[in-house]
Amino acid sequence: MTKRILILPGDYIGPEIMAEAEKVLRRVNQQYDLELALEHGLIGGAALDVHGVPLPEETLAAARSADAILLGAVGGPKWDGVERELRPERGLLAIRSQLQLFGNLRPAILYPQLVEASSLKPEVVSGLDILIVRELTGGIYFGEPRGIRTLENGERQGYNTYVYSESEIERIAHLAFDLAGKRDGRVCSVDKSNVLEATVLWREVLERIAPQYPDVELSHMYVDNAAMQLVRAPKQFDVIVTGNMFGDILSDAAAMLTGSIGMLPSASLDREGRGMYEPCHGSAPDIAGGGKANPLATILSVAMMLRYTLAAPSAADAIEGAVSAVLDQGLRTADIHSEGTTLVDTVAMGDAVVAALDN
Ligand code: NAD
Ligand code: IPM
Ligand code: MN
Repeated sequence: MTKRILILPGDYIGPEIMAEAEKVLRRVNQQYDLELALEHGLIGGAALDVHGVPLPEETLAAARSADAILLGAVGGPKWDGVERELRPERGLLAIRSQLQLFGNLRPAILYPQLVEASSLKPEVVSGLDILIVRELTGGIYFGEPRGIRTLENGERQGYNTYVYSESEIERIAHLAFDLAGKRDGRVCSVDKSNVLEATVLWREVLERIAPQYPDVELSHMYVDNAAMQLVRAPKQFDVIVTGNMFGDILSDAAAMLTGSIGMLPSASLDREGRGMYEPCHGSAPDIAGGGKANPLATILSVAMMLRYTLAAPSAADAIEGAVSAVLDQGLRTADIHSEGTTLVDTVAMGDAVVAALDN
């Protein structure tokens, strides 16, 4: 049966990296008879320019009816001046929230070929394989009230609300425990329960659910320490589960352990395992248009899509194998380039992955 994939390239490097991911997706579609039908839509600044909103109704409708969504990245200086509610990033937040994609999986895996590209010493990072499970549709990103108000003394004040309900914590906890059960069986929950009530409840709920997973060991860590431990001894972690904002920050830090943010894919899942797939990085306006962007995070997000939503694990394995093969060949975009390797641009990297799939 045909499955529909909605492709949302977004802004700045978004279309550049997506073109390469799409090539890869089309190739495995043929090779594995996946019967995927690819559609395209607008989100972020690209949608704002055409429709005046960052998430047009037609994009949301297409997203709801698609079997899976592949997204590039949104935002950038072109839209710095637009009002808050219309910012490109609001389109991304809205699609995540509307589709209830609460479970954001961000695997930080160091390919052995990239040990030299990591900013940490080889012995600290080699063999790294951690999974950050970030809650994606709640917390301070969505809490009400929020806004900027003027106080009686005329001074302005910005405010947000850090809020988590038990059911939101429960569902992300179950996801993290489930995933840990298929890995090394260790969940580290990251919070700030020494200060923030929302995370006191977070820790309580994690503790309450843990006994349902006797094979998984639960530990807790404050977020400041977790940031430090991630760069001190990252291999101590298996699965990290945390809230929306902490997960955003920790996953960018974890990205650097793998050589570059251009290597980190992600899956954002709902309760049924339907999902949206995107690189963890942004639209990189500073390098857009120059063929400098690393398309591998997006290509690896295609592999996650095939594994988690489309039940095509062999095609996913093939893509990951092809990525490893191009790294073996010494091909590197600028962000992961080091002495003795060959510098290639975005398109050449995508072409090389497709060629490796054919071998
Ligand atoms: P960014 O992730 O876009 O870039 C941070 C740095 O990493 C830059 O130096 C960039 O050149 C580099 N980088 C990022 N992706 C790369 C890649 N694939 N290959 C090589 N280098 C890469 O973060 P930023 O600069 O803080 O944000 C830029 C814009 O992107 C902002 O508008 C922000 O809101 C948006 N953003 C969007 C997403 C998303 O769509 N999921 C994620 C993060 C940021
Ligand atoms: C990410 C991004 C987004 C986030 C922004 C662009 C809304 O940083 O996907 O990590 O904070 O979730
Ligand atoms: Mn981020």
